[in-house]
Amino acid sequence: SVASDFVVVSNRLPVDRTDDEAEPWRRSPGGLVTALDPVMRRNDGAWVGWPGQAGVEIEPFEFDGLRLVPVALSADDIQLYYEGFSNDTIWPLYHDVIATPTYHRTWWDAYVRVNRRFAEAASENAAEGATVWVHDYQLQLVPKMLRELRPDVTIGYFHHIPFPAYGIYAQLPWRKQVLEGLLGADVIGFQRVADAGNFARAVRRQLGYDTKAGSIAVPEGEGTRTAIARAYPISIDASVYEDLARRPDIQARAAEIRASLGSPQAILLGVDRLDYTKGIRHRLKAYGELLSDGRLSVHDVTLVQVASPSRERVQTYMQLRDEIELTVGRINGDADELGYTAIQYLHHSYPREEMVALYLAADVMLVTALRDGMNLVAKEYVASRVDGGGVLVLSEFTGAADELTQAISVNPHDIVGLKDAIMQAIDMPVKERERRMRALRRRVRENDVARWSQRFLTDLDAVRSQRS
Ligand code: G6P
Repeated sequence: SVASDFVVVSNRLPVDRTDDEAEPWRRSPGGLVTALDPVMRRNDGAWVGWPGQAGVEIEPFEFDGLRLVPVALSADDIQLYYEGFSNDTIWPLYHDVIATPTYHRTWWDAYVRVNRRFAEAASENAAEGATVWVHDYQLQLVPKMLRELRPDVTIGYFHHIPFPAYGIYAQLPWRKQVLEGLLGADVIGFQRVADAGNFARAVRRQLGYDTKAGSIAVPEGEGTRTAIARAYPISIDASVYEDLARRPDIQARAAEIRASLGSPQAILLGVDRLDYTKGIRHRLKAYGELLSDGRLSVHDVTLVQVASPSRERVQTYMQLRDEIELTVGRINGDADELGYTAIQYLHHSYPREEMVALYLAADVMLVTALRDGMNLVAKEYVASRVDGGGVLVLSEFTGAADELTQAISVNPHDIVGLKDAIMQAIDMPVKERERRMRALRRRVRENDVARWSQRFLTDLDAVRSQRS
């Protein structure tokens, strides 16, 4: 096999399967691929990940200048490792138990087994002294497994979701193993300073290792090795959104969307994966009450809620979908008049062009997550507002809130406060709106995804040169 100096490992490959036989793969739209593209090309990079379908065994292949190394998952693996341990144990636990995590030993066994397979694939594709960058909560054991297989490589790990407070983390029956798994990395990156702090505390309490200002003394052989744990807030490729938002066809599409909604005074927008962490119910509750109180009327305002399908075979997600669709139906039934709709609910995902048109069309963007590692939708909205318009309402429980301090900040659990924030956004004077959006745009442009990966890889490189 071909060995690479730079290997990325993530649960999903950065491509999606198409139905087109001539072009069976399409690049998935994530910012991560764009950010890592230059690094990958410089280093003959390889990307290890699951191709997204059950049972498909594919040999490594070249696509669009990337070397892709598929890891096959059987239907069982998907059920136990992906839907089970990753998305029904770790996901709810790490998002402050908004939903109740399920602890199953068979799920854990599958998680260990599948993590080992990813570690082996990374090991087989890494050149002597290579750098390997592992991503996210599905693969927390890979760093340690890989270090055991390949003590010569430098290992980074980035955690895209929150790391919970110690009292919550402590529920996990395999809490020691997971911490040890992560500590196999030389640099462990988190979204927020608070996440890195939570992790260090868990390490102190569970493993008794010394931690100081983001450095952790990990026992190795006779002595110790230093692992770095700190915050690297992720971002988007802001220029891609700006360029799209400046395209005349996309601006025309934005105008068309506004007109098709009856050109109301205010268009509110929510864009989320259909996930219980996103606070969609709280948002609907607040909006529904504003309509029934008479503070808002369907003549003046409409809410577009894009809820893209996600993890649809997990029970909690099925229940959430039912609840949301019931609520949307109720609110619309109560508030609608002929020709006027309170909520346009769209259970689809859309291409990036259409999303940017929607962002441009929306007067108010509602991000009301109960817990979110970062929330890139907030950053996409800001980057897309090249016209300087638009108001962002942003939950304080997102990583993005640490940076986007000029948004209207909300506690989504406080329905009264949320209602007031929505009204404040709708009624905001133009001057204030523009001043806030200018400040937000500056932040997103300064810390874009290229800057994020540079910061992480610079720290990782420093470790590497120390070792050699
Ligand atoms: C979050 C996670 C990612 C994940 C994505 C989509 O952003 O941090 O690791 O890929 O959700 O979820 P899915 O389960 O479809 O991969």
